[in-house]
Amino acid sequence: MKKYYVTTPIYYVNSSPHIGTAYTTILADVSARFQHMLGRSSFFLTGTDEHGDKIAKSAAAQGKSPQQFVDEISEQFRVLWPRLNVMPNRFIRTTDADHRAVVQKVLQRLHDQGDTYYGEYEGLYCTGCERFRTEKELVDGKCPDHGTPPERIKESNYFFRMSKYQDWWREYIEQNPDVVRPERYKNEVLGYLREPLEDLCISRPKTRLSWGIELPFDTDYVTYVWFDALLNYLSGIGYDQNPEWNGLWENSEHLIGKDIVKPHGIYWPIMLHAAGLPIFKHLTVHGYWNFRDAKISKSSGKPIAVDPLIDTFGVDAVRYFVLREMVVGLDASFSIEAILKRINSDLANDLGNLFSRVAKLIGDHFQSVIPEADAGQPELEELARNLVASAPQWAAEMKWHVLIEETMQLIRATNRYFESSAPWSLVKTDLRAAGTVLRNCCESLRIASVVLYSIMPGKMAELLSRMGEPVGDFQLETHARWGLVRGGARLSKGDALFPRLDEKIVLSQFADLISGTTTATEKTAPRASAVTDLINIEDFRKIDLRTAIVVAAEKLKGSDKLLKLQVEVGSERRQVVAGIAEHYAPEQVVGKKIVIVANLLPAKLRGEVSEGMLLAVKWDDKLEILQAPDSAPGAAQIS
Ligand code: MSP
Repeated sequence: MKKYYVTTPIYYVNSSPHIGTAYTTILADVSARFQHMLGRSSFFLTGTDEHGDKIAKSAAAQGKSPQQFVDEISEQFRVLWPRLNVMPNRFIRTTDADHRAVVQKVLQRLHDQGDTYYGEYEGLYCTGCERFRTEKELVDGKCPDHGTPPERIKESNYFFRMSKYQDWWREYIEQNPDVVRPERYKNEVLGYLREPLEDLCISRPKTRLSWGIELPFDTDYVTYVWFDALLNYLSGIGYDQNPEWNGLWENSEHLIGKDIVKPHGIYWPIMLHAAGLPIFKHLTVHGYWNFRDAKISKSSGKPIAVDPLIDTFGVDAVRYFVLREMVVGLDASFSIEAILKRINSDLANDLGNLFSRVAKLIGDHFQSVIPEADAGQPELEELARNLVASAPQWAAEMKWHVLIEETMQLIRATNRYFESSAPWSLVKTDLRAAGTVLRNCCESLRIASVVLYSIMPGKMAELLSRMGEPVGDFQLETHARWGLVRGGARLSKGDALFPRLDEKIVLSQFADLISGTTTATEKTAPRASAVTDLINIEDFRKIDLRTAIVVAAEKLKGSDKLLKLQVEVGSERRQVVAGIAEHYAPEQVVGKKIVIVANLLPAKLRGEVSEGMLLAVKWDDKLEILQAPDSAPGAAQIS
């Protein structure tokens, strides 16, 4: 089976994950999943970069040992990825024993073959970049990426003879012009190669820095962090240990942001070639996520945290947004308004609404059984065929925005077909014809769901299973074909797949971010596990828990899950919509003394305002409302 190997940069653990670091990781996850749908066995590697000056300084600033510090932050990355439905095959840490062994092995080889030498060096070191910068690269004497002046450092070190391989690399690029892509980044690399390359300083004296991998041939030194970090791409697949490593390496795809083109586009291929190894297949470079025209990063003070976005928009919508919004190679702007717009127009309106309308008619007129079609719909069939034929190429070139847009074109064309065929009135005159229209719409929806499956695995699996499709291991070629909808399968309409978001409510939730009063929603506290966030007492005190009495209750129209409650919080009357209808009949809750979160922003659920949230205990598939003692007064505070 053909293999596919995709990597992200390994992230520095001097700052917590944010939307910028999440982006590359989502991109890799989507690629791995998509290649899997093309029948390739894919391996996806991500992880954390844990050695070097920068980390040692951050640990010291927090009064922690480097090991304790890296353990804590690395964990934040590791637990975030499953929350984003990102499933790497390995999460590598440069402090892992097998990685250290690979670094030492490669260093020893280069040393033994005479590709290293010992010498004195004086240069300008930027700790932010963890590399020496040339005078030419500075802007007004400062690092262009970090805005800080580099430090002048003079010391004796080991050097790697990079200059020896400069011509080989230039010629390789000329013969393989898409090895670095898009083209502008290939040109950036060629630009570096037009000047004579300086040899790479690959060590740091332990007297200055001890947090690193020891040089195998001189124990007074540790390895330079970039030399160590780049080798993760080999150690992560068991270089020289796992018999499969070679097959993966031949198909390696590196994804990086434009900040680290030089180490990946110059140091890395030359290190590989010198070590007698083939180089990666592609280095694909994307631009920056900006927030109000500045790069999102810890140092810019605007590290947009991912957790609040997942909580508000849902993981699939976040994945969809970043892939649709960024054209790989160019910068993209992040804003809450832009996410809202995408979700409401593409997902709620075009995709979700089409499914709801089709499902409603099938529910009302076909006993929820997907009808047979008397004829297909040539225009939609052709659109779908072209989409599925081109999708692999767009995926290979990381043109996800095109793949998504073309899928949405199919959905929009299906909406137009639905509108112009008017099945809601056809059902009264010609039920078979109405059935044909609905069935054709299902075919489109089904194909779109398979194509978008790697981008929104959760929601697309849900959509497919609501159409009676057994959700499993999808293959594009076999599953994204017209005519595969299971006629006779039961369709379940369910709640809106992508509920329309109330702009006002969402904007007020992110008011701090939007108005700029606080620059970050980042959490700095270490996370205990994937499901439990540690919060401090101040955060807890913000939550106003009160007793309340339920004075009236009724089922919410159109929902099997929700009850609409009228509650009294002391003398104040409020409406609370609660997801308890599967466990309680309305009459069972009236009179109960419950506990509510009283200071939640009002939200709209199925058109009804909810001014608070009821607390309940949930286990297995059971649910029981949490009740306050009978003797407690109304509106008593819970602390
Ligand atoms: N540790 C090095 C990489 C070593 S790889 C052998 C490093 N780490 S980093 O934590 O600074 O991560 C850099 C990467 O994070 C970028 O290349 C990019 O993939 C991602 N991004 C960080 N901020 C970003 C944006 N604002 N926008 C887009 N991507 C961003 O460099």
